[in-house]
Amino acid sequence: MKPKPTDPGSLLLSAIRAHMELGTTEVIVERRKRTTSGTKSTTIVAESPVMAAIPPSLDMIELPEIQKRQFKSLGDHCEAINKCQLCELGATRNKFVYGVGNPQAKLMFIGEAPGAEEDRRGEPFVGRAGQLLDQILLAIKFTRQDIYIANILKCRPPNNRDPLPEEMNKCTPYLNEQIRIIEPKLICLLGRIAAQALLKTSTPLGKLRGHWHEHNGVPVLVTYHPAALLRFPAYKKETWEDVQKLRARYDELG
Ligand code: URA
Ligand code: URA
Repeated sequence: MKPKPTDPGSLLLSAIRAHMELGTTEVIVERRKRTTSGTKSTTIVAESPVMAAIPPSLDMIELPEIQKRQFKSLGDHCEAINKCQLCELGATRNKFVYGVGNPQAKLMFIGEAPGAEEDRRGEPFVGRAGQLLDQILLAIKFTRQDIYIANILKCRPPNNRDPLPEEMNKCTPYLNEQIRIIEPKLICLLGRIAAQALLKTSTPLGKLRGHWHEHNGVPVLVTYHPAALLRFPAYKKETWEDVQKLRARYDELG
């Protein structure tokens, strides 16, 4: 039988999941047990047992030739890399998901990796999380034509598992070349995986979000991943604050 969502076991599980994914510092779960002498209550404090694996500095990795080259345009770059087999995801992908949007965008959004729908269509953020991203963009008066959207990984990890450090190491140089070509003035990182990978940190998302960071001289704001908002709608409020911050800084660019 499937446990009810109020079952203490599944409550604890979802709290731990929220903790790990959203980077909250601790989760406290109260467990109540009825006994003959009344109700016994136990408090469980769960701490994240695993920190996300952080890729080593890219400077320490000998890059393949294709990643040392500089390309004149996104089109040339995409054409050169879209048959990539540098990691095992090359064998399982349907489509390589390069990126989409305005090649002259002043603002770039970066997510984690393609999901099933993205893998099928070859375009980032077109599934359920993507529809929520569109709503968020609309709320701050952007359309997809104003911005550019890409991911840390260009290929879908099987069953949407987290990207492996090795996959991120091999793929991030592609993203950095996209950033070099586009020259965005602002970057918004969506979710823990993108934030920790690009900022090379293991700081939990809860501490990274809402603040300005920097990547190769470009100001970077971190916020929740729209997929996380689908599961934990309570985080929409903070996301709203984050994206308003983003919009305000964008408007200051003139
Ligand atoms: N989630 C991501 O991080 N990227 C996508 O392109 C789709 C969902
Ligand atoms: N999971 C992610 O991948 N990112 C978030 O922002 C939250 C949960």
